[in-house]
Amino acid sequence: MSKKIWYSLTAILIISMILSACAPATTEAPPATEAPATEMPATEAPTEAPATEAPTEAPALSGSVGIVLPTRDEPRWIQDEARFQEALTEAGYDVEILFSEGDSAKERTNVDSLITKGIQVLIITPHDGAAAAAAAEAARAAGVKVISYDRLILDTDAVDYYVTFDSIAVGEAQGQYLVDKASGTGNPLYLYAGAATDNNAFLFFEGAWNVLQPKIADGTFVIKNSSEAVALQDKAELTRDEMGQIIGQITTNWDFNTAKNLAESNLTAASAEDKGNVFILAPNDGTARAIADAFAADADVESYVVTGQDAEIASVQYIIDGKQSMTVLKDVRTLVADAIAAAVAYLEGGTPEETTTYNNGVIDVPAKPSEVITVDKDNVVEAIIDSGYWPASEFTNLP
Ligand code: BGC
Repeated sequence: MSKKIWYSLTAILIISMILSACAPATTEAPPATEAPATEMPATEAPTEAPATEAPTEAPALSGSVGIVLPTRDEPRWIQDEARFQEALTEAGYDVEILFSEGDSAKERTNVDSLITKGIQVLIITPHDGAAAAAAAEAARAAGVKVISYDRLILDTDAVDYYVTFDSIAVGEAQGQYLVDKASGTGNPLYLYAGAATDNNAFLFFEGAWNVLQPKIADGTFVIKNSSEAVALQDKAELTRDEMGQIIGQITTNWDFNTAKNLAESNLTAASAEDKGNVFILAPNDGTARAIADAFAADADVESYVVTGQDAEIASVQYIIDGKQSMTVLKDVRTLVADAIAAAVAYLEGGTPEETTTYNNGVIDVPAKPSEVITVDKDNVVEAIIDSGYWPASEFTNLP
């Protein structure tokens, strides 16, 4: 599909989302917003709504909505910026997108500046879920609706809505992939996690543990790099504190260098028998590439299966090249469309669609999690290229 057609189809999808968000029955069950990632909505949207009606019916988001994203250091968030810009530009909106550069103080400055400019809706991915509570409270005090985008703001009642993927399902998909690739017993398992300041890191780990723990208990896997995880390996369900103890040992802090250094030190500490054909739970694509490179460089590692998430271009290429085993596609087009639909709902005086809630330590935040898709070499063309997620021209040696 050409880029131009893709843009048009995306615009139609977004506009149909916005139109359904504007319709009186919005909060019930708008069909357009239910088009899940698995169905690749871009190809199905044209029948939903005529694009020409949107500009006159949609409220002006320009100046009314501000977006704050956590960092430019990871392709994931650059992608969110680009997908927001594509969607907003196609719909004729001018919305400011600011980056917090991995710094909660900068994040607060960004939020304050958007409040001063008079936004009515804030869409924000917190760098640190708990530290962002103060910024959310400042926005609430100024009458601004706060939409937590992808990551949940913790420990405050000043969060109106949470736009997210099903993060437990992400972890389960990663764990399931390792289980499906393993046979026999005694398979070495290396565990890695995201940043402890990110609530998602706990959800991903919880999902993975749901699937991996029974296979650790029955001897299929043997944990090689976390004494805390070994101490808890007979517990099917972990408390947040217990997960925190494990994550404290295996965190990458969502940082490539931290991930690489941790993997290298784990490999240095491991004996040759702890290596061989290994299984690696890596929490996302950036850390997966760093960890995979470290394992690939170890002479005692004969083969490895490594997980990821985000379907970053570099990791899709790693999958094509056999250097990363899988990724979890979280279709950012869907997340962006849902965030815009939620903002429109608030500007119209309505309420965004709620299918579940997430507890943030203080309240149950209304949310609408989206589905995710496991991608490996077998379905990479269908899931990534045919769906229009990334163009084939980004890759070499596609299967
Ligand atoms: C997001 C992931 C991302 C990670 C690191 C998580 O909160 O859900 O998609 O890879 O943060 O930025």
